Amino acid sequence: MIRRCTEEDIPQVAEIENLSFSRPYPAFVFKKYLRARFLVHEEEGKITGYIIGVKMGSKGIIISLAVHPEYRGKGHGKKLIEELVRIMDAGIIELQVRRSNTEALKFYQSVGFERKGILPAYYGDGEDAVVMFMKKG
Ligand SMILES: CC(C)(COP(=O)(O)OP(=O)(O)OC[C@H]1O[C@@H](n2cnc3c(N)ncnc32)[C@H](O)[C@@H]1OP(=O)(O)O)[C@@H](O)C(=O)NCCC(=O)NCCS
Repeated sequence: MIRRCTEEDIPQVAEIENLSFSRPYPAFVFKKYLRARFLVHEEEGKITGYIIGVKMGSKGIIISLAVHPEYRGKGHGKKLIEELVRIMDAGIIELQVRRSNTEALKFYQSVGFERKGILPAYYGDGEDAVVMFMKKG
């Protein structure tokens, strides 16, 4: 089931974040996004993944997406991104992903995103970002 994230979900979201990224967002950052488009995937009472999107002007931006390592490859990421795209009132959705994150690059391509370009040394550790976009509708 996909539903909006609530404050009670944040410890599980932060755990997924810690298991998924070498430089995870701290829990307080998630609290700030509770009023954004912040969705979780829940299975048998457990949060298995989350996605955060915001509107910036006429664009939708995906801030973060992660699925718990034990639940990957089961379509939860795809369901989360499809629902976010559905509820995002924007013609174009964009995101940035680390150039070395080949799994995420393949995932985003498989759900319909295209490569737009590179932001050199975008991340704090100097890694490039790949910018990807999707036209809605
Ligand atoms: C990227 C991520 C969110 C994908 O979530 P997921 O639930 O495992 O993905 P899904 O099962 O919905 O996969 C949908 C499609 O994406 C592609 N895909 C997903 N994981 C893939 C991988 N590791 N390698 C290649 N293709 C992959 C497949 O085409 C898949 O379709 P299929 O199952 O029919 O083969 C997940 O791997 C993750 O949390 N990674 C760590 C965090 C991260 O990198 N987030 C993105 C950067 S912001």
